[in-house]
Amino acid sequence: MGFKITDELKEEIRSRNRLEDVVGAYVALKRSGKSLVGLCPFHNEKTPSFSVSPDKQLYYCFGCGASGDVFDFVMQYERLEFVEAVERLAERAGIVLDIENETPSQRLSRRTRDVLLEINTLAARYFRYRLLRSKLAAGAREYLSSRGVSAKSAELFSLGYAPDKWDDLYTLLAKRGFSTEVILQSGLVKKGRASAYDVFRDRVIFPIRDVNRRVVGFGGRTLPGKGESQPKYINSPETLLFNKSHVLYGIDLARDSIKRLERSVIVEGYMDVISCHQHGFTNVVAPLGTSLTTAQARLLLRYAPEVIILFDADTAGQEATLRSLELLRREGLRVKVATLDEGSDPDSFLKENGASALQTLLESAANLTEYRINVIVSATDLSDASLKAEASRRCIEALVEVIDPIERSEYSKYAAYQLRVDEEVFTREVERAVRRGRRAGDTFRKNRYTRQVESAVDPAASQESLRTPGAGDALAEKLTKAELLLLGMILDNPSLASLVEGELIEESFSSPSVFRIFRMLCDEAKQGDSEELLSAILNRIDDEAERQLIHRLSVGAEKLDSVSDPRRTVLDCALWMEENRVGRKISSLQLDLREAEKSGDSERIRLLGKQIMDCQRLRQEIRAKMSNPNEYR
Ligand code: UTP
Ligand code: MN
Repeated sequence: MGFKITDELKEEIRSRNRLEDVVGAYVALKRSGKSLVGLCPFHNEKTPSFSVSPDKQLYYCFGCGASGDVFDFVMQYERLEFVEAVERLAERAGIVLDIENETPSQRLSRRTRDVLLEINTLAARYFRYRLLRSKLAAGAREYLSSRGVSAKSAELFSLGYAPDKWDDLYTLLAKRGFSTEVILQSGLVKKGRASAYDVFRDRVIFPIRDVNRRVVGFGGRTLPGKGESQPKYINSPETLLFNKSHVLYGIDLARDSIKRLERSVIVEGYMDVISCHQHGFTNVVAPLGTSLTTAQARLLLRYAPEVIILFDADTAGQEATLRSLELLRREGLRVKVATLDEGSDPDSFLKENGASALQTLLESAANLTEYRINVIVSATDLSDASLKAEASRRCIEALVEVIDPIERSEYSKYAAYQLRVDEEVFTREVERAVRRGRRAGDTFRKNRYTRQVESAVDPAASQESLRTPGAGDALAEKLTKAELLLLGMILDNPSLASLVEGELIEESFSSPSVFRIFRMLCDEAKQGDSEELLSAILNRIDDEAERQLIHRLSVGAEKLDSVSDPRRTVLDCALWMEENRVGRKISSLQLDLREAEKSGDSERIRLLGKQIMDCQRLRQEIRAKMSNPNEYR
């Protein structure tokens, strides 16, 4: 990021990206009263519950609670970070982001990043040139051709060679005028005791590029016959540009194809990626020798919801791998597993069996749950009852994580069959474990895709757990109709606040945080500027659930259009809330009275009796003032 995100910048971007236009590009919106409504893009539904308020420039989904402003929409929909959403919307509106405004440290790291990028680009060209032209690279060229890497693939992946010299690259970079300090920061050169030396020596070079095709780092492989003293592969160290856990090898070449094919394939190594691409599997990427991370999952999810893991049988069955696959799923990817025989990798598989065999293997990839069950069952001696019970327990653990009940029941049957246990008993145990998990509040993070399934299949489950990326809709659920209406009306017309400000106290509200919001509305209403009220309120609120409530109120959910006399209605809401409060007070006094009667404390009995009567009288007075006492119940 080379710019400072000021409030002015945010406002300008906001004003030049109408929410209804931005949303409208993805969702068909129809007018309904003051709002526009459409099918929610964040969960699967048949009747529209996604509302956009053009006046307030906010959206809210009554189905899943997704809510926010234009930045939130782009972040949620495109799965971008805030800064990226700012960039995206600025670009959409033709706003040139002002890099003059950046802070000194932002400027420094932007400049350093630019220089490091220049160094990497130069180094990649240097390695490439060496591989193509240098006599020293004869062995490397021979090696690549023995591995079956075509000239075209080598070009596509910009493969290179770092000669067996101590400081060729360092010398070149220094000659080009880069300072030693920044050269060291690139990770291509290390400081030795006597002098600096090149990190990559006598290795085939694999430049690592980000989605935007910028070279952020390098991998290097030893040539065969160089002894075992060196690690086979080394990567650039972490730098300002290079974060191993954020990139995937091949993503620059795979991203369009992933989008088109609607799925990605993850393999283990550099050579596997190259070999797959060369055989026409262009949606293939690999992590850099580490287990998969959340950032990588999100990167893939930007392009497609499905991912196939293509590991060899040995790695794919390992607990660590299975855990990282769970992580992919939790991030919202549909995960499938295709395994190769132990000892074989996609590269060797392709060489032995050809592209169509790999295609078949990918098509028959097992769903992650099925796969986990297979792994557990195949490692168990089913003739031993206690081992079988242990395996069942582990299968149940895997099944509990399947959110869709129909899918879960199918896999439960499958597992019972594989485990050779009684289907009915087993299924019951699974469902019991599911309920236990729910009660324990063990709600794993839901995502766009599991939510879809969930709401399509089980409306009750969706009530309970359909949540936005982020917080729940907990607050609005707790509010009474009167509270929602009252707050909604004041938000719509701040001058109404003064009518009821003095009438309501904290106990009138169903929770202290609702009272806080009410107080804020009253305060801000006094500032007079109703245009600014909403953003002023949102700026003051940090709590995600409270923000969500404001979003909901803003899209005009509470049918304000049908209110004929706003002043009367606001007063009625306040009266109803007061009546409610007094009613609660009476109940609590009655409980105290019962206690007092048990202990025979006559003075206390008399006092409580009087208080109850006072409250009842007060309640009558309140009721008499209400124009329609049953309206808000
Ligand atoms: P492999 O040894 O399976 O790599 O390691 P590969 O790509 O199949 O290598 P070839 O076929 O022998 O050329 C898988 C990945 O693990 C990382 C690399 O990212 C490699 O591609 N790795 C492996 C390392 O980082 N260091 C190592 O020493 C070995
Ligand atoms: Mn290999």
